[in-house]
Amino acid sequence: MKTVAETLTAHRSIRQFKADKIPQDVIDEVLQEAIMGTSSSGNLNSYSMIMTRDPARKQRLYELHGEQDFILQAPLVITFCADWYRTRQWLQLRGARDNFNNFLGYQVAANEAMLISQSVTLGFEARGYGICYMGTTLQAMQDIADYLDLPETCLPITTIVVGVPAERPDRRERLPMRAYVHDEIYQEPGPSDLEELYGAREETGWQRYMSMPHLRAMCEEGGITSLAQMYTSPYKYDPDAYAATSLRVLEALRGRGFLPSGLDLTQPDE
Ligand SMILES: Cc1cc2nc3c(=O)[nH]c(=O)nc-3n(C[C@H](O)[C@H](O)[C@H](O)COP(=O)(O)O)c2cc1C
Repeated sequence: MKTVAETLTAHRSIRQFKADKIPQDVIDEVLQEAIMGTSSSGNLNSYSMIMTRDPARKQRLYELHGEQDFILQAPLVITFCADWYRTRQWLQLRGARDNFNNFLGYQVAANEAMLISQSVTLGFEARGYGICYMGTTLQAMQDIADYLDLPETCLPITTIVVGVPAERPDRRERLPMRAYVHDEIYQEPGPSDLEELYGAREETGWQRYMSMPHLRAMCEEGGITSLAQMYTSPYKYDPDAYAATSLRVLEALRGRGFLPSGLDLTQPDE
């Protein structure tokens, strides 16, 4: 098994998988280690993990996740949920006051779901398995919650697919460490810092997109001439789509009891 440093160094998101199943004892070992080895707010463990292996159920998740085909290839899909339902049922059983059906509850449990997802990820990667996160969980939050039968104050936060890698992609670049690290107080980057921090990424990222004929054609058609423009274009993280999804996420929070049911979510200009 790889050490933590070896695991992090070897990390690449994997989007092509072999058909091999993951032995149940390996899955159990990874999950048990992650559960025991992940810090938890108040040790209340406000998360749940839904394991999907059934091909028919994976097919429906594939549809809900914007048809990302690696879901169909990977033998295991894990949906990590912010979950106060179990804890709140226990509180009720013991005659304790109810809580966590509020926005702070959501935020705490969403953090827990992300933390456990990364521990599980490291456990699988240390054993040579590959994973890919799926941010589409947030886009389809409500529908995924319904499909997985999630109860009140339980919502999906992120998803990973897991399996034996059938590809070995190049390691993806990151910004230099000084972009993320601030000494004592936040040091605002000026234009020349941004030039320096993003220069290399702009070049390699843009070259990467231009090497893919369909993306190159889309950029030419849409008048997109830089990596930054690409990121907030309709092909990537469109601001209008982000605003619409934000509302859907808020509706899902309200629907599952994390926000007051009477909260008005309509936009002022509607
Ligand atoms: C929260 C989260 C959501 C992501 N969602 C997707 C996704 O929906 N589809 C996908 O192909 N990759 C997804 N990724 C993977 C990222 O694209 C990937 O981590 C990033 O490009 C860096 O590449 P690397 O993981 O190989 O270093 C996601 C990653 C994170 C952390």
